[in-house]
Order: sequence, then C-alpha cells, then structure tokens
Amino acid sequence: MATLIAVGACYLDTILTVEYYPAEDEKLRASQLEKRRGGNVPNTLEVLQQVLRWKSISAPLILLAVLPNRSSPATEEIRASLGPHVDFAHCFYRKTSSVAPSSYIFKSLATDSRTLVNYSDLEEMNTSEFEQAISKFANQPDSIYHFEGRIPDVTAECIDCIRIRDPKATISVEVEKPNREGLQRLAQKADVVFYSKSWAQAQGYQSATDCLQRQTILTPKASFLFCTWGVGGAAALRASDKSIVQVPAYLPHSGHVVDTIGAGDTFIAGVLFGLFYTQNQNMVKTLSFANELAGRKVAQHGFSGLAEKMGQF
Ligand SMILES: Nc1ncnc2c1ncn2[C@@H]1O[C@H](COP(=O)(O)OP(=O)(O)OP(=O)(O)O)[C@@H](O)[C@H]1O
Ligand SMILES: *[C@@H]1O[C@H](CO)[C@@H](O)[C@H](O)[C@H]1NC(C)=O
Ligand SMILES: *[C@@H]1O[C@H](CO)[C@@H](O)[C@H](O)[C@H]1NC(C)=O
Ligand SMILES: *[C@@H]1O[C@H](CO)[C@@H](O)[C@H](O)[C@H]1NC(C)=O
Repeated sequence: MATLIAVGACYLDTILTVEYYPAEDEKLRASQLEKRRGGNVPNTLEVLQQVLRWKSISAPLILLAVLPNRSSPATEEIRASLGPHVDFAHCFYRKTSSVAPSSYIFKSLATDSRTLVNYSDLEEMNTSEFEQAISKFANQPDSIYHFEGRIPDVTAECIDCIRIRDPKATISVEVEKPNREGLQRLAQKADVVFYSKSWAQAQGYQSATDCLQRQTILTPKASFLFCTWGVGGAAALRASDKSIVQVPAYLPHSGHVVDTIGAGDTFIAGVLFGLFYTQNQNMVKTLSFANELAGRKVAQHGFSGLAEKMGQF
C-alpha cells in the first residue's frame, strides 16, 4: 500500500464567532470561542486517515512538519489531535520553541467570511533537513509526497531532491494562496496539482474549468489537475486525454453551511484517497467522492465522523 509523506505546517487555531466582521479599532463581543488543531496538511491527514480506516485500509501516513520541542504541551496537543495512525517520528522539532504556530480566526455570521491572522516563531524547514528526513524512507515502492506549497523556493528544491532520490515517487502540490509568488513554478514540477478558487481568480480565471484548461498548458509533468470553487463545486482534468469533468457542490439534505474551515483540505483528502488508495484511477468517481466529502464537511462542525457519512462509495 502507498506511503504518504505530507509536508506542511501545523497550527493551533482559536476561532471567534462574531455577528459581523469588526471595523478597525471597534470593540466587539464574540458569541463563541473555539480552539482546535488546524493547518492544511494535518487537516488533510485527519480526514484521509478516517477514510482509510472506514475502508479498512492500513497504509503509512507520515507527517513532515516543523514543531516546537518534543516535550512541549503544544506538540503533545498536535500529536494527540491526529491520533496513533499518523507518524510524527520524522518531524522537525525546534528545541528552543515551545509555542505552536497559532492562527486566530474571526468567523463572521453576517457574511460567512473567515479572516485569519497567523503567528509563528518556529524556524521554517530547509531543504537540507528535508533531504535528510526523506533519506530514511526514500525508495519505498509507492511513495506519494503531498506539499502544502508553503515556501515555494524551498518546496521547489525539495521536489528536485525527491526526483533524484526517489524518482518513482508521485508528487502533489496545493496551489492556494493568491499572493504567494512562485506557486506556478511548483505546479510545473508536480504530478498532481490542487488549485484554489482564490488563486485561480487572482490569475484572472473565470471558473474552475477555465483554470484547468489554461493551466494544463503550463504543467507539462502533471497527470491530474483539480480546482475547487467553493459553493460552485469543483473540476478535474486528466492530462493524458485532456478530458475535463466538473461537479456542482454537493448539498447535504440538512442544507446548512455550518463550518467551511478545512473544506479544501477535505477535498484534497478525498482526491488522494481516490487516486492512490483505490484500484481504478477513475477521475469522475474520484472527483465526485472528494466533492461529496467536502460538501458533507461544510454541513458539520469539524471533521469527526465524516467518512461514515459517505455511505457506499
Ligand atoms: N457552501 C458549500 N456547499 C457545498 N460544498 C462546499 C461549499 N463550500 C465548499 N464546498 C466544497 O468544498 C470544496 C472546497 O471549497 P473551497 O474552494 O471553499 O476551499 P478552500 O477555501 O480552499 O477551503 P480551506 O482553505 O478552508 O480548506 C469545494 O470544491 C466543494 O466541494
Ligand atoms: C494560517 O493558519 C492556517 C491554519 O490554522 C493555515 O491553514 C494557513 O495556511 C496559515 N496561513 C498562512 C499565511 O500561514
Ligand atoms: C521544551 O518545552 C518545555 C515545555 O514548554 C520547556 O519547559 C523546556 O524548557 C523546553 N526545552 C528547551 C530545550 O527549550
Ligand atoms: C537547516 O535547518 C537546520 C535546523 O534549524 C539547521 O541546523 C541547518 O543549519 C539549516 N541548514 C541550512 C543550509 O540552512
């Protein structure tokens, strides 16, 4: 079974629910306070682990993230939040830090927006420590590397390093943050690319399919491209025949959007499952599964019990 090595940051999130987004200098009382473990890659691992267990598939899931020192409560909390099936042995522990990267999120009920302010004093991962970490498990028969696409220059070097050390590996990259320079270059190097609506719109693309049609010309290595479009659903492109499929957002019977934090991360978990842990790499089925998983996620709080809701897939 495939080994997934997922590279990205772990956060501890504090979410304040507010009636409306405050103006600068305004004082406002929040109606709810919630703390949870966040971060794109850990979110994806949490959901993927659930889906694998639901399908009775056991496969190694390795997290490569920078964390505070091993004995800090923050590291303990992050570890506990992902349970025993995610391997933390190869993480980069910063001895002198004891605070986790933190994310403060204002969730506005008036507009459904979520405004984020992050803080971290952890030194970022560099290419040489990445190379050292993967030397311990490179050349497993079936490795998949998934990158959050955080620091594009470092990520690009890491991808080059995998191509040399583990040439059979599959590499997937998330292209998400609209203002992050250099994500296009990562897409050019990857086998699977996930584009977000906000990045696509910042490039001037009009829709998910528009994004994929234009990106396929710029991504010679990629076999599959995906683009999510929030309530507009998602689309996928298979490079071998340039076929594109699009699905409308999945709206569960309960109807309400309750919590969109991590919808994109859930979608990625669904795609990774469909592409790498099922026999047929059926693009339509994979896209529908990921889209339904993400649609069910926004209708509930957090991620727990998501996989069981998927019925027969
Ligand atoms: N309101 C909604 N109703 C149904 N499905 C939704 C809704 N919003 C998002 N989704 C599903 O989630 C997927 C990803 O959503 P979106 O594009 O908003 O991700 P995102 O902004 O990257 O999320 P995050 O960064 O929080 O993980 C969509 O493609 C869709 O399948
Ligand atoms: C901020 O934190 C969230 C998770 O808590 C993470 O998903 C996001 O990538 C971070 N953003 C930046 C700009 O670091
Ligand atoms: C690691 O974190 C713990 C708990 O926060 C702290 O007491 C300890 O001093 C830290 N270790 C180092 C080497 O800084
Ligand atoms: C990479 O990071 C590690 C850990 O912080 C550090 O010891 C090392 O000197 C760094 N290497 C380079 C080339 O920056």
